[in-house]
Amino acid sequence: MKNNFEFQNPTKLIFGKGTIAQLATELPKNERILVTYGGGSVKQNGVYEQVCQALKGFDYVEFWGIEPNPTVETLRKAIALGKQEKVTYILAVGGGSVIDGTKLVASAIPYDGDAWELVLKPSKIGKMIPFASVLTLPATGSEMNSGAVISNAEKQEKYAFFSSFPQFSILDPTVTFSLPDFQIACGIADTFIHVLEQYLTLPGESPLMDRWSEGIMQTLIELAPQIKADKTNYDAMAEFMLCATMALNGFTAMGVSQDWATHLIGHEITALHGTTHGQTLVIVLLGTMKVMREQKKAKLLQYGTRVFNITEGTDDQRIDKTIETTEQFFRSIGLATKLSELNIGKETITTIKERFLNRDTRLGEAGNIDGNATEEILNAAL
Ligand code: NZQ
Ligand code: ZN
Repeated sequence: MKNNFEFQNPTKLIFGKGTIAQLATELPKNERILVTYGGGSVKQNGVYEQVCQALKGFDYVEFWGIEPNPTVETLRKAIALGKQEKVTYILAVGGGSVIDGTKLVASAIPYDGDAWELVLKPSKIGKMIPFASVLTLPATGSEMNSGAVISNAEKQEKYAFFSSFPQFSILDPTVTFSLPDFQIACGIADTFIHVLEQYLTLPGESPLMDRWSEGIMQTLIELAPQIKADKTNYDAMAEFMLCATMALNGFTAMGVSQDWATHLIGHEITALHGTTHGQTLVIVLLGTMKVMREQKKAKLLQYGTRVFNITEGTDDQRIDKTIETTEQFFRSIGLATKLSELNIGKETITTIKERFLNRDTRLGEAGNIDGNATEEILNAAL
């Protein structure tokens, strides 16, 4: 185990069919609750009804309209409502965007300044309003981590910050049956890439973290065709949902190096073009693998061998085949693998390069991906 670490994940996970009803016993009594929602998918798939049923007798107000890639502009309205209604507890019902947005709302209700200041400087976050979630989209791990990613529409910026964990999260896999195929594909990709961001770094740091990560990736590869064939396959969706939570709740990160370059470059693309998170990551990841192949050589070989069974040829040939097979996997779930497929080109690459050079950004496990290296990665992703 390479590095010392501390680990604490306080979120209680409540998993399985029919578990939304448990809100009635899990939510604290005598609180003024704010229930936060996205754009309304919960009204079509029965989630809203189940939540209302469970909340009978509780004192609550609703906030609607937290959008994908949640913006501070929308969240300011939720914060104002929370302050006005003197809420003391928040329940997020939705995907990663609703849960992330709720983390900012929970941080900003007790804060006097503007919420964007907390995104830029999370050390300003004081005591937060406690919150919980009902997850409807497996992808981000937000249901069991303290991270959140917030966009600023006016500035075309998107940043991650860390605050605190949901007290509990309810995961009923049957609620995922209504997801559009594209969102499922993006969720699989996001999960897979969360694992890689914590795995595709340096070799020999922790055999347990390595095998744990490889296990999640192999499980996703096995599940993807089953889900494609039938997204109402409970066992497959349940397993995928658990993969997504386990990929970003700290369990694969103990004592090992982490990368996150793909994510931070991806956030810039989304900030500028509004592209969906998982789809964006796939494209950047392939560029990162190509440009960083020397630095990541040992781990790329291990990933190719253990996850895709690529064992023949020279090291270079095996790495080529590993990157190619990764691309085929994402193609097989219906995602684009090149920037040009999203009509994104050189102009965006230059903008991101300049942003990173101005901010003196240095990404990756070695802290050596600056604006110029980012340009190379994105050129390799064209
Ligand atoms: O808004 P509604 O109407 O609910 O529709 C949503 C939304 O349009 C829909 N949806 C969700 N559950 C559904 C459903 N439609 C039908 N049936 C269901 N059961 O799906 C659309 C996308 O939802 P969203 O919450 O945006 O997706 P996701 O969970 O992928 O979240 C993406 C956001 O999370 C951030 C991303 O950057 C992005 O902003 N991330 C958060 C992380 C974290 N907190 O740790 C880490 C991730 O790397 C990621 O960056
Ligand atoms: Zn992600």
